[in-house]
Amino acid sequence: MADVPGAPANAAQRYLREGTLRLGALPPLSLYVHLPWCLRKCPYCDFNSHELGAQRRAGSMELPEAAYLDALRADLESALPLVWGRKVQTVFIGGGTPSLFAPEAIDRLIADVRARLPLEAGCEITLEANPGTFERDRFRGYRQAGVTRLSVGVQSFDDDKLKRLGRVHDADQAKAALEEARACFDTFNVDLMYALPGQTLDELDADLTQALAFEPPHLSVYHLTIEANTYFAKFPPAVPDDDMAFEMLDRITERTAAVGLGRYEVSAYARPGHRCAHNLNYWGFGDYLGIGAGAHSKLSFPHRVVRQVRYREPAHYMSAARAGQAVAQDLEVARSELPFEFMLNALRLREGFEIAQFSERTGLPVTAIARALDEAERRGLILRDWQRVQPTDKGFDFLSDLQALFLAESA
Ligand SMILES: C[S@@+](CC[C@H](N)C(=O)[O-])C[C@H]1O[C@@H](n2cnc3c(N)ncnc32)[C@H](O)[C@@H]1O
Ligand code: SF4
Repeated sequence: MADVPGAPANAAQRYLREGTLRLGALPPLSLYVHLPWCLRKCPYCDFNSHELGAQRRAGSMELPEAAYLDALRADLESALPLVWGRKVQTVFIGGGTPSLFAPEAIDRLIADVRARLPLEAGCEITLEANPGTFERDRFRGYRQAGVTRLSVGVQSFDDDKLKRLGRVHDADQAKAALEEARACFDTFNVDLMYALPGQTLDELDADLTQALAFEPPHLSVYHLTIEANTYFAKFPPAVPDDDMAFEMLDRITERTAAVGLGRYEVSAYARPGHRCAHNLNYWGFGDYLGIGAGAHSKLSFPHRVVRQVRYREPAHYMSAARAGQAVAQDLEVARSELPFEFMLNALRLREGFEIAQFSERTGLPVTAIARALDEAERRGLILRDWQRVQPTDKGFDFLSDLQALFLAESA
């Protein structure tokens, strides 16, 4: 059911109306903050990222740091009635390229958040950084501003591959950024991609060797996907075939396990104690308030689950946010869609989920997924007992088939 977005206080009243769902408790709440600019748009990227260089060339503007922070503050203030009285468990400052913002700007952003929302003690605060924006002492500045975890987008350590991916940095800059990340943060993540244009198994091995040399507490390794509406969708590069991609994934899983990085989600590997609490909340079908251009939110109320999307284009977003109208769309998730939405997230986790959590987070009885669970078990895609459901190795390899069973169930 689509609703016309209105003033946030009205939205809170609408969301609190009676309804057919019964959520026993509200899930943990996270905050996502989107900073939408990049130096250059990468040809594979479909995130809401806007090329700053193009705007510079057109002479329109430099990074409008202060104006954007003002808009974020107004956006957050307008959203407060939707999360009244709830503590924030984790914060993620993502992009785009958040590391384009100076440490002083990030300091102000975190102070603005802290002044308006209660953060749980020891709250994880992640910031995404691109090695192309790296300069000495910048990461230390983020740490001093209150960032607790840095996520560095490296993608590859091979200069030729970096060029083909349109990255603004080379391998040496990536290594320098990781040296600094390691020196400044107790916990940090390295983003890599595999099945890159023209990549061989040996080249992937070399990327892994280099990444593991930094002893990252967390590693994310994504299969390069060709997303619609990107440059790569228009001009597709030659990438390794599916068999090779599977072989690469096996190699990644073996080599990470050998150094104590456990695969806990489809693309995420961590040492004990270093899993990303923010992403775990997404995968557990927790709640998140997303502020910033194009940010998505998922918020629960006693009788409904609501999704919101903010205006995507930064200038439009900024003026709308200042007027307290940053939300472009809001949508109540239909009862029939909740099982699939839950499974889309929870089945990405190696350990699966507790059955009680399904009812707690969707407000639906377990009987709503009974048939699909039976079928998944019959096909060898899940293991389950009275308490937990866990994807098997086969279920993990054929994850979209497994998730689709819950789509059928909800149809
Ligand atoms: C929003 S980006 C964040 C970091 C920063 N913007 C950068 O690229 O360095 C998050 C990560 O998603 C991954 N990613 C982006 N587009 C992808 C695609 N088409 N296929 C696979 N992974 C992708 C990259 O590893 C990237 O680091
Ligand atoms: S730097 Fe990151 S967010 Fe920006 S265009 Fe490249 S992949 Fe997308």
